[in-house]
Parts: sequence; C-alpha cells; structure tokens
Amino acid sequence: MSKFNVTTLGQFIIERQHEINVAKGEFSRLLRDIGIAAKTISREVNRAGLADIIGEAGSSNIQGEDQKKLDVIANDLVIDCLTRGGEVCAVASEEDDDIIFIDSPVSKNAKYIVCMDPLDGSSNIDVNVSIGTIFSIYQRVTSVGTKANTEDFYQPGNKMLAAGYVIYGTSTMLVYTTGNGVNGFTLDPGIGEFCLSHPDMKIPEMGKIYSYNEGNILSAPKGVQEYITWCQQYDKDTNRPYSARYIGSMVADFHRNLLKGGIFIYPATDKAPNGKLRLLYECNPMSFIMEQAGGVSTTGKERILDIVPNALHQRVPIYMGSKGMVNQLLELLDK
Ligand code: AHG
Ligand code: MN
Ligand code: MN
Repeated sequence: MSKFNVTTLGQFIIERQHEINVAKGEFSRLLRDIGIAAKTISREVNRAGLADIIGEAGSSNIQGEDQKKLDVIANDLVIDCLTRGGEVCAVASEEDDDIIFIDSPVSKNAKYIVCMDPLDGSSNIDVNVSIGTIFSIYQRVTSVGTKANTEDFYQPGNKMLAAGYVIYGTSTMLVYTTGNGVNGFTLDPGIGEFCLSHPDMKIPEMGKIYSYNEGNILSAPKGVQEYITWCQQYDKDTNRPYSARYIGSMVADFHRNLLKGGIFIYPATDKAPNGKLRLLYECNPMSFIMEQAGGVSTTGKERILDIVPNALHQRVPIYMGSKGMVNQLLELLDK
C-alpha cells in the first residue's frame, strides 16, 4: 500500500497558524498566495532558456540597473497573486520606484504590506545560475481601509511578521520564518507542491566559507581587508584557509551558508558608499531568517533589524552568517 507521508507547505502553514498573533486565516492565505506565486515563477525560470524571455526588458529600474524580462515577469506574477488574494494593500518592490497600491474589490480590508525582490541575482539569469525571490510581510500601521503610505514601509525589520526566500537552484526551494524558527520546503514538480524537506534549519556557529566580491577589496573597510587576509592564512587549528564562494545571487550564497556555515559580506565600496544591497527587500528579510536560524546580521555598527528605514530603496552594508564568524569580523571592524 502506498503512503503519502510528506507535509506540504499548505498543510504546514495551517498546522503552525496557532503560533501567529495576527488574524490567522488571512495571514495563512497570504502565505499560501506567495507559495503559489513562487511555483509560477519557478515554472517561468525553468523554461526561460526555451522560451524567448531571457535578456533585457529594455527598461531600467530606479537604481539605473537594466531590468531583465524575468524580473518584470516575476514582479507582475507576485502582484497578481497578492491582488487576487486580497490580504495585501500595498507592495514595495525592487522593480518599482514607488509603492504599488493594491486596490481590488477583495482587498478593501487588507491588513498587510509586502516588501519584495521578485528576482534576486538577475545577472545570473542568462547564464543558467541560481537566482531567487525574497519577500517579507508586515502588518500595516495606518488604518485599514485608508490608502497605505510610507509610514507602513518605514517600520524597522524587527516588526516583520514573516520573511522568506525562494531559490531556483538544482531544485526549487521555499524557506521561510514567522519568528518561530526557519523551515525549508522543496518543490516536488511531480505533484506541484512544496514539501517540508528542511525542518527547523539552524546555521552552524562556525563555518569555513566566506562569500565576498573580492573585486572590491581595495575599497573595503580596513577591518574587512584584515578579515579576508586572516581567512586566507593557513592555520591547522582554525581550519584555515577558508574557502571563497561567491555566486552573485545573495539568495544562493545565503542558502549555501545557512546549510554549511559561512559569512556573507557586502560592505560599503567606492562605487556604493552605503553598500549595494537594499534594506527593505533584501537585507531585512534575509536578516530575519538568519537570526531565526541562530545567525547574526549587522551593518558592522548596528543590528540590521533595528534600522528605521527612511527610503524605499535604501541601501546598507551587511555582514551576516555564522555567529562565530560575524563576531570575529566585528572585532576587526571595531579596532
Ligand atoms: P538583484 O539581482 O536583485 O539586483 O540583486 C543582486 C545583488 C545580490 O543578489 C548579490 O549578492 C549582489 O547583488 C552582487 O553584487 P556584485 O556583483 O556587486 O558583487
Ligand atoms: Mn537582489
Ligand atoms: Mn532583483
């Protein structure tokens, strides 16, 4: 007799909804809708090489970066899913300069806002390397039924209700937290469901991988330069030299480091004096997941999740990963 003994994402969301302090049914529906968007993006990503949808879309976003077609497709897919779901009143996305207001007949009483990077690592699309989607969910602070505004989006990350990412790798995985640990689900293409494959994920306290774009080393803070040199020195007792691994898709670098232990480093550079990565839809969600998995995430001066944002596309330096590794780097930065 065959047995079905997997837990699907949908089942898991319902099983765990008692842990959530907000309207349970609505919040579960919202998570489910993001899961549906993720599956649809995964399908598009998988057939990108076949269909004529890779390459630049011909437009650029607020940061002057070229937008790939898949970025736009992923952006639209998530917004469509959230619009149909009715639980979200506004979205901040890497691909849109301003807040996107969701105004549909079913979203009149929507209580939540979403920040997202619909496709992270888009320079890797054309070369068939892993990319991802990042999302976070907050309760709105303005009154339900009114138009959302920046106040809703300028909440510090420590107010986040949930955050997650989807990685389109050798398999597609969705990893998320609602503040009660981190759980990972692998998409079984045969049944079209995300199935619980990585329950209660924890990052090792120490690792031997550093993920840093060393092309920027000359303009990195002194402490970072010293740390990287230290990582490269031979030492039997501390297992050095460490290994350099840098994909250029934060989601993919993060996911590997989460499983194996490691540190992800993106400091301020000459080219990007505030760092490159965006607080609202890259650093905050990943920091929430990192902390929930037992790791650390900081700008070098403060905890990422405690920053009060002042712009939708604000950038910050970020150091995150295994506790022991980040703390070692912090000692050098403090010197
Ligand atoms: P996005 O594709 O969403 O713009 O993000 C790219 C980000 C991030 O995924 C990655 O870690 C970083 O840019 C890589 O930047 P460098 O090429 O400067 O190292
Ligand atoms: Mn990104
Ligand atoms: Mn992106």
